[in-house]
This record gives sequence, C-alpha cells and structure tokens, in this order.
Amino acid sequence: MANRQQGNCITCHQVTVLRDAKGIDGASGKQGDFGPSLDGVGKRYSLAQLRQWVMDGRRFNPNTLMPPFGTIDGASYASPSRPILSLEEIDKVTAALATLR
Ligand code: HEC
Repeated sequence: MANRQQGNCITCHQVTVLRDAKGIDGASGKQGDFGPSLDGVGKRYSLAQLRQWVMDGRRFNPNTLMPPFGTIDGASYASPSRPILSLEEIDKVTAALATLR
C-alpha cells in the first residue's frame, strides 16, 4: 500500500499506521489527501466490500477517481496489458484494510 511502484495507496489516502511505521517506503508524512482517510475502513466495510474497492471502486461510485487495481475493463490510460495488482496482491491489501479499525 505504501510502495510507489505498486498500490501507492498513500499517494491519495492517509493511513496512520503506515505514516508512523519506520522503514516503509513512502511513510513519514508523505501521504496525500485526495481520497478519504483509510483509518477505520475495516469497521465501515465488509471484507467483500473492501476487496471490491480495490478491484474496481466504480461498483460503488461510477465516477470515482480511484483507479481500478484489479481490472483493465474500460481503462482510459495507455493500453495497460494487465491490472495494476495481481489477485494475490489484492487479497493482501484487502486483509490489511480489514485491520484498519
Ligand atoms: C489516485 C488516487 C487514489 C489511489 C492511488 C487510491 N485511491 Fe482509494 N480512493 C480514492 C478516492 C478519490 C476515493 C473516494 C471514493 C469515491 O471516489 O467515491 C477512494 C476510496 C477508497 C476506499 C473507500 C473509502 C471510504 O471511506 O469510503 C477504499 C477502501 C480505498 N479507496 C482503498 C484504496 C487502496 C487500498 C488503495 C491502494 C491499493 C487506494 N485506495 C488507492 C482515490 C485513490
């Protein structure tokens, strides 16, 4: 979630536990606030909903500015050959989101 080459969630989201973690790329105060803080999302959404947000948030908001990480359906950026994250990576992100309570 903090990796600039992969999920890069923190470029758009505040995640307090990642900001305070030492030795994580992208930690320490360099988080964006383009999207809502992810603190507490594990309480607000079920596992299935969290996974859907990461796969493709357009299911919840067709006009969302959050990139779909698990699909290239309707992608408007330059000819992606694969989704940004693999299914295994999406499962890991979903599990991490569920701990944000
Ligand atoms: C380009 C910016 C951007 C990136 C990168 C991004 N998001 Fe988002 N995300 C958003 C925006 C904007 C929203 C607000 C929802 C909307 O658009 O309706 C959002 C909403 C969410 C929500 C729902 C939050 C709520 O309180 O309703 C979750 C969960 C989420 N993002 C997780 C992630 C994860 C995990 C990643 C990394 C894999 C990520 N986001 C990367 C922009 C981004």
